[in-house]
Amino acid sequence: MKQHIDLNNKTILVTGSPGFIGANLVMRLLSTLTGGTVISFDSMNDYYDPKLKEYRLGLINAAAEKSKVKHVFIQGNLADKELVDEVFSMYKPSIVVNLAAQAGVRYSIDHPDVYIESNIIGFFNILEACRHSYDGGESGVEHLVYASSSSVYGGNKKVPFSVEDKVDNPVSLYAATKKSNELLAHSYSKLYNIPSTGLRFFTVYGPAGRPDMFYFSATNKLARGEKIQIFYYGDMKRDFTYIDDIVEGIIRVMQGAPEKRIGDDGLPVPPYSIYNIGGGTPENLLEYVKVLQEELVRSGVLKPDYDFEGHRELVGMQAGDVPVTYADSRGLEEDYGFKPSIDIRTGLRRFCEWYKEYYR
Ligand SMILES: NC(=O)c1ccc[n+]([C@@H]2O[C@H](COP(=O)([O-])OP(=O)(O)OC[C@H]3O[C@@H](n4cnc5c(N)ncnc54)[C@H](O)[C@@H]3O)[C@@H](O)[C@H]2O)c1
Repeated sequence: MKQHIDLNNKTILVTGSPGFIGANLVMRLLSTLTGGTVISFDSMNDYYDPKLKEYRLGLINAAAEKSKVKHVFIQGNLADKELVDEVFSMYKPSIVVNLAAQAGVRYSIDHPDVYIESNIIGFFNILEACRHSYDGGESGVEHLVYASSSSVYGGNKKVPFSVEDKVDNPVSLYAATKKSNELLAHSYSKLYNIPSTGLRFFTVYGPAGRPDMFYFSATNKLARGEKIQIFYYGDMKRDFTYIDDIVEGIIRVMQGAPEKRIGDDGLPVPPYSIYNIGGGTPENLLEYVKVLQEELVRSGVLKPDYDFEGHRELVGMQAGDVPVTYADSRGLEEDYGFKPSIDIRTGLRRFCEWYKEYYR
């Protein structure tokens, strides 16, 4: 059972905005809610071009001007406990969406420290702040929603991936930190009765997305006349999820918190849930590349006679990567009545059109 939450007139903290998913979520909140406060919290780090984050912040500010909702941007590090506590005591958020994290599977191989700092210490600080939000009888945080990842499934062979599957064999430190988030959240839900929902996102893409992700970095390389590498000889399958579907999924979930209940032992049954959010139709990487190429030509990023064959190279598997991701998102559909539906042609078209305009 879910506890319904009306997001209007609430204070909502979104960490990792203006990151890719966070910025899109905040813009949707600003355009749909009729009142309240939305706080964006982000370190604006330079893992990828910070200009893209500035650009997204510009879009958020423009949306805020037209909105009935107040928007506050705080630049800071989640690992800074004092700052996180200060934000919670000053604004008293009732809904927290934790999207700030060091993302990327491959980067974690050479840069482990930042994953521990942002994804473990940062997340711990959020949990602690949620716990203390109830101090002195305050109503506190009604729902903590946080980003997990399809990478927790590692090299699992059974598809589609279900939240019931065993996920104890991460193949990257990134995946290990995301699985740790789920474990930490479970213990905090049990001990302090904090309603929490973890969302395992599956390869999210779209306009102004992350330049470290394949569709974006491949586009950059092709536009510069460089060769792209297609891993695992193109035999990979990915469950691509368009950004609007992810945002819709997050907003639905924010409005339904796991219900607080007391168990037979007189202690709280942890108000804790995990869901997959994925397109549900995994695409072969080569098919995805084919659609991307067609859309790059259609949008005018590349010329119709572009020599795609001469600009691609099929290579083996990379460390930390997995051959397939495939989401079983039935839980989301059953509990929140929502199923991602935007196909890769539509999604890549919007990305290519945005790319053409942005880099004009
Ligand atoms: N995009 C995907 O395909 C995908 C898939 C699975 C999971 N996720 C998860 O979803 C969340 C959002 O991902 P995204 O694609 O929007 O990534 P993103 O990198 O665009 O956004 C994350 C933001 O968090 C900020 N950040 C990082 N460390 C921070 C810290 N210590 N303190 C404050 N801010 C910090 C970054 O500056 C960035 O703007 C992340 O938790 C990511 O792991 C994303």
